[in-house]
Amino acid sequence: MPMEVAANPLRTDDGRAGCRPGPSDVRVLVCRGCCCGTAKHPGTDHEAQVAAFRAACRTRVVGCLGECSQSNVIVVRRPSGERLWLGHVVSAASTAALCAWIAAGARVDMPPELAGLEFRPHRANQGLARAELARE
Ligand code: FES
Repeated sequence: MPMEVAANPLRTDDGRAGCRPGPSDVRVLVCRGCCCGTAKHPGTDHEAQVAAFRAACRTRVVGCLGECSQSNVIVVRRPSGERLWLGHVVSAASTAALCAWIAAGARVDMPPELAGLEFRPHRANQGLARAELARE
């Protein structure tokens, strides 16, 4: 019998978010400001993306993090406290890979398919993310 594959890797066949929650101390900021999460990325299911992150770990949706040229921007705080900034997270595949890594604890290196998405934010914007993560 052929194996059925869900059309959208962010959703299971019954429509739930496709990432399993893990025993994760990881925290995520999902930017939804003037560029991230908007029609600037018409091929992205923004709601499914947020649901997938929320299924993987504690997630906050925040306003513009000041790095619009990198939209959609995601900030991941690893259990060690290190913050990783990822940009251009617009595909279902990159979101699913990121969520799987987070749900597994984000203790090992990011999967190679995500390495090109990491970027270094401006210093002032690092402070924005730090403040947002402290609001939990
Ligand atoms: S809207 Fe996300 S960085 Fe500006």
